[in-house]
Amino acid sequence: MTSPAKIGIVTVSDRASAGVYADEGGPAILDYLGKALASPWQAVSRVIPDDRVGIARTLTELADVEGCCLIVTTGGTGPAPRDVTPEATEDVIDKLMPGFGELMRQVSLAKVPTAILSRQLAGIRGKSLIVNLPGRPRAIAECLDAVMPAIPYCIDLIEGPYLETDPAVIVAFRPGQKPKG
Ligand code: MTE
Repeated sequence: MTSPAKIGIVTVSDRASAGVYADEGGPAILDYLGKALASPWQAVSRVIPDDRVGIARTLTELADVEGCCLIVTTGGTGPAPRDVTPEATEDVIDKLMPGFGELMRQVSLAKVPTAILSRQLAGIRGKSLIVNLPGRPRAIAECLDAVMPAIPYCIDLIEGPYLETDPAVIVAFRPGQKPKG
């Protein structure tokens, strides 16, 4: 039996990590992936402060030590002084994947004009795809709905596990393959 695919879920928030309020972003990502993914997977969750070095260290640990094929972050993408998630992501990736940020901002703009304030990006570190999402819980489904169809094939290309989706929720697109569902 193949082991479940590991997926990192990282909430970046000074206040959630200090217990000032409950983390809503991490559970929203967990819930989303629980509905969207049909193949076995396992979450590796972290709630950490808005600290560039700490975020970079967590992303590195989830990619290199835990072996997560996908790492989704939430929070810290805006213009405020403590928002440094994109910088920390850039510190650890080998390749930038600009299409993810472009598409997520484009679909988000149809929902909220302040979507242009998010500097969210995505990139590849080794065999891990790292995707930044904004911190607002409702942004999570808005953004993942847009990029999720391309994520399983991206993970195929970086030699990660074969992720399958529930076609009733998300149809994964793999070129040359008839979409299931
Ligand atoms: N994107 C979506 N889809 N939905 C949202 O509500 N909020 C925006 C933006 N992107 C939003 C969104 C707002 S108000 C901000 S300030 C930025 O994301 C950055 O958020 P963050 O700093 O919490 O990551």
